[in-house]
Amino acid sequence: MMANEKITIDNGFDVERIRADFPILSKKIRGKDLVWLDSASSAQKPLSVIEDMDKVYREFYANVHRGVYKFSQETTILVESSRATVAKFLNSNSDKEIIFTRNATEAINLVASSWGNKFLKSGDEVIISSLEHHANIVPWHFLRENLGIEIKVIPLLENGDLDMDAYKSMLSDKVKMVACTQMSNAIGTIVDVKEIISLAKEHGAKTLIDGSQAVVHLDVDVSDLDCDFYVFTGHKLYGPSGVGVLYGKFDILNSMPPYQGGGEMIETVAFDKITYKEAPYRFEAGTPAIVEIIGLKSAIEYMNGFCKKDIREHEDYLLNLAITEMAKIDGVNIIANPSNRAGLVSFTIDNIHPHDIATIFDQMGIAVRAGQHCAEPLLNLLGVKATVRASFGIYNNKQDVDALITAIHKTIKIFG
Ligand code: ALA
Repeated sequence: MMANEKITIDNGFDVERIRADFPILSKKIRGKDLVWLDSASSAQKPLSVIEDMDKVYREFYANVHRGVYKFSQETTILVESSRATVAKFLNSNSDKEIIFTRNATEAINLVASSWGNKFLKSGDEVIISSLEHHANIVPWHFLRENLGIEIKVIPLLENGDLDMDAYKSMLSDKVKMVACTQMSNAIGTIVDVKEIISLAKEHGAKTLIDGSQAVVHLDVDVSDLDCDFYVFTGHKLYGPSGVGVLYGKFDILNSMPPYQGGGEMIETVAFDKITYKEAPYRFEAGTPAIVEIIGLKSAIEYMNGFCKKDIREHEDYLLNLAITEMAKIDGVNIIANPSNRAGLVSFTIDNIHPHDIATIFDQMGIAVRAGQHCAEPLLNLLGVKATVRASFGIYNNKQDVDALITAIHKTIKIFG
């Protein structure tokens, strides 16, 4: 590799211009240039998001829906406009299908708790996949413990893909929900969720897709997917933390009881009776994350300035370069080889603990995640206790890959 070779992709994707949008990327870590390879954990934020959020606090901050005065009207308009932006981003039929949550985890908990407790009973089955983040495992365990539902798991093929034949054979009329990730946060597998959803529907099962990772790299069209629920989080999509999204089909949302009570989710309340608003407000108890919701709108608008195909092409270029170079290094083990992978690679180095690797990397200004990536059952299946994960975003460049490869060589030398 030539360190200064400029990435030129015919589609005009100019990574150096993009990097200039992210102020944090010019920071030094221990005197070294920051190399941010942890976007799958949380992505950095463009100036437009930072400035739009700052502007609300400086110029017109107020609570939403509760005031007739100008500032409250302005924040209310922006929060509702963010809902419309999200609806369009996902190609949902209506703004009413977009619920703001704290994060994707809360969105899944909302569905499991509200929909699950109302519609599931002992003996019903929920299918999840081997690739799930804890966020799409634990809420279903609550229902297993409380209601006696059964959790069935789509097995993993050796390369890190899901075993779709096994999935087909697991489906029956006992299955009431299929909840599956669209992209593994631990090994990067892209799942053909359209196929998962269509097969689930043949058996009358509802579907929930965890798009936390996928929405950053792929175009998502919930109408085309025809899923019943789709969740993602703002902070991986170059937006703020503290805001997530639950998309749900309107009729299904309105058949579900509220998840939390209080605030403006009621239609009327007395000491002896209560009625609830329709979706989405029924599910938004208490003051929402006003400024974060507005920041999410800015992040989506920023992302709308790009074509996802171009982003994917750029990220794939870096990912493939990293994998090719890593594969040449003795002692480096790339974990899984999915047939369709985006944005990240997990690896181990013989005889060096992933946390030690990440600590050495940190000395060189490189941020990676080490550990189980909140996917303990998946790592057990893969036969590893922990991995190092390097994840790529819109702003990573070839120098970042060079830095990663150099850091791996140095780490092996230090421990050798
Ligand atoms: N779910 C995030 C990750 O994969 C935190 O790192």
